[in-house]
Amino acid sequence: MISVKGVSYTYMTSTPFEKTALENISFDVAEGEVLAIAGHTGSGKSTLIQLVAGLIKLTSGTIAIDGLPVADKKIRRLVGIVFQYPEHQLFEETVERDIAFGPRNFGLSDEETSARVEEAMRQVGLDAALKKVSPFELSGGQRRRVAIAGILALKPKYLILDEPTAGLDPLAKKNLLQELFGVVRKSGVTIILVSHSMEDIARFASRVVVLAQGKVLFIGTPRELFAEEEILSRAGLEPPPITKLLRTLNINEQALTVDEAEKIILKRLEKISCRR
Ligand SMILES: Nc1ncnc2c1ncn2[C@@H]1O[C@H](COP(=O)(O)OP(=O)(O)OP(=O)(O)O)[C@@H](O)[C@H]1O
Ligand SMILES: [Mg+2]
Repeated sequence: MISVKGVSYTYMTSTPFEKTALENISFDVAEGEVLAIAGHTGSGKSTLIQLVAGLIKLTSGTIAIDGLPVADKKIRRLVGIVFQYPEHQLFEETVERDIAFGPRNFGLSDEETSARVEEAMRQVGLDAALKKVSPFELSGGQRRRVAIAGILALKPKYLILDEPTAGLDPLAKKNLLQELFGVVRKSGVTIILVSHSMEDIARFASRVVVLAQGKVLFIGTPRELFAEEEILSRAGLEPPPITKLLRTLNINEQALTVDEAEKIILKRLEKISCRR
């Protein structure tokens, strides 16, 4: 479990540029859940996950991961973080070497490393034939997969993804998340997903933390969030288009996905045709 208690963070303390990015944030992440973090640009999402991964030091409050304080070096083995645009950090000559970099650094044997590379490539839907190819010859979407595979190869218990689909085309986006969440979740990994996409949150998240100007505005399920119009507008967020459509049609039921909406609308149409 990840437990965040009373966390605040200030950039460039005691300078004229001092900026409080987070104020008194508390929430828990239960094992096996997908917790989304949503909020307008600048609301503090990336700062928060960097604190959870132990990459920057808390100004105040505590973060514990499986009971260990986040400053403890042992948590580095537990938490994997995929930054925004992770493909910018690829640097090895081949896909295989790039994905192997982390496991090798963890001191795994050649055999173990190569098994990890193969498994991670499968998990992100990369063909094994691409192993010997330079990452720079790949498409943007494939490069993103290589970068994510490099983190999965470390087998983190907690996986943090910062806008994993930002900048990908709609199809690549849909496939990447479906694969990631399908395969990765089967292995019981707990996921923190930073996302602007309310559709992705509706489909994948068990709960959402909404940040606004560095404060927690809401914690609950996506369904609960999309019913809170005032909170959404204060956070500068919009419900998924399909949820909005049902509202516009004056249908008093909530749909999070197109499939759900289809069922609700068909049911209504049946009722209408029965009355005729
Ligand atoms: N290195 C930094 N130095 C100073 N201020 C920073 C730094 N990084 C972020 N900030 C400020 O802290 C606040 C929160 O930034 P953060 O990057 O965490 O937001 P975010 O929610 O991830 O935004 P986005 O959706 O654009 O990625 C912003 O006001 C930002 O300007
Ligand atoms: Mg960010």
